[in-house]
Amino acid sequence: MQNYDETEVSDLVLTELYRANVLKCEGAKYLNKKSGVNFSTFERQHVGTSPKILFFAKSVDPMIQATNIHKYYDQLHVLKGVDLTIDKGEIVSVVGASGAGKTTLLHILGTLDKPAKETATSLTINGENLLAMNDTAISKFRNLHLGFIFQFHQLLPEFTALENVCIPGFIAKRNKAEVEHEAKKLLDYLGLSHRIAHKPSELSGGEQQRVAVARAMINKPAVIFADEPSGNLDTASAENLHQLFFTLRNELGQTFVIVTHNEELADMADRKLTMSDGLIIH
Ligand SMILES: Nc1ncnc2c1ncn2[C@@H]1O[C@H](COP(=O)(O)OP(=O)(O)OP(=O)(O)O)[C@@H](O)[C@H]1O
Ligand SMILES: [Mg+2]
Repeated sequence: MQNYDETEVSDLVLTELYRANVLKCEGAKYLNKKSGVNFSTFERQHVGTSPKILFFAKSVDPMIQATNIHKYYDQLHVLKGVDLTIDKGEIVSVVGASGAGKTTLLHILGTLDKPAKETATSLTINGENLLAMNDTAISKFRNLHLGFIFQFHQLLPEFTALENVCIPGFIAKRNKAEVEHEAKKLLDYLGLSHRIAHKPSELSGGEQQRVAVARAMINKPAVIFADEPSGNLDTASAENLHQLFFTLRNELGQTFVIVTHNEELADMADRKLTMSDGLIIH
């Protein structure tokens, strides 16, 4: 708990903050609704047996810090020096015209691709310097800390919904029974408990997408990267999925970076970034 600003707040004050819509209360966690405030997470601690409760305003270390990110495909200069900071627990949407470089940027932030080697280029996630890691370390980091949701969910067709969700947990060499237990819980939470033994081809598009969300969540990643997550869903399924992102953030504190052409989803985010011609313009 060191490095935190310690603030003692009564339950009454907290209730007021909650009522004033400054804090969102989910279980024992309190998250600010909009980022940009100087703290993002409150943790509740009971002190001994007394009813006194301490709240710790955790100072914000950014979850993602990217500086001077460039990418070339041969002669094509696709990313032209992107700078970006994303806080822990923040939901950021990325919008912009087709070809602006959104997917390319998401892949670099998500360690699926590497930026060009330029001076002063840096990329840290959760304080880890990703550009200093070798490929094995990066793969391990990705498996443990990052989750991905794509437009075409890329589930493995020969495995059931449950197996698809478990796979990243097995790759992380976690206990098999524990992974399966959690996968079932996640699928249940996503309203899919009756479909766990079915293969992707036997599920609807919305169901497949929810399986992909569960798969992205199984290792409790710090960051979820989503590229057009609702691109192939009907309006109702898309809305449910978007709501789910916010519920997951509020309950589990995950950070989300979501590339989307869906304006409603983009506007729901804490912050909307617009890309144009390889740069974030606002
Ligand atoms: N593997 C590749 N090889 C060569 N050029 C590529 C490659 N991937 C992307 N590009 C080019 O880089 C540019 C940016 O592509 P990117 O996929 O990042 O765009 P985007 O903003 O995600 O677009 P969309 O909204 O259509 O998905 C485009 O001009 C694209 O043609
Ligand atoms: Mg794209």
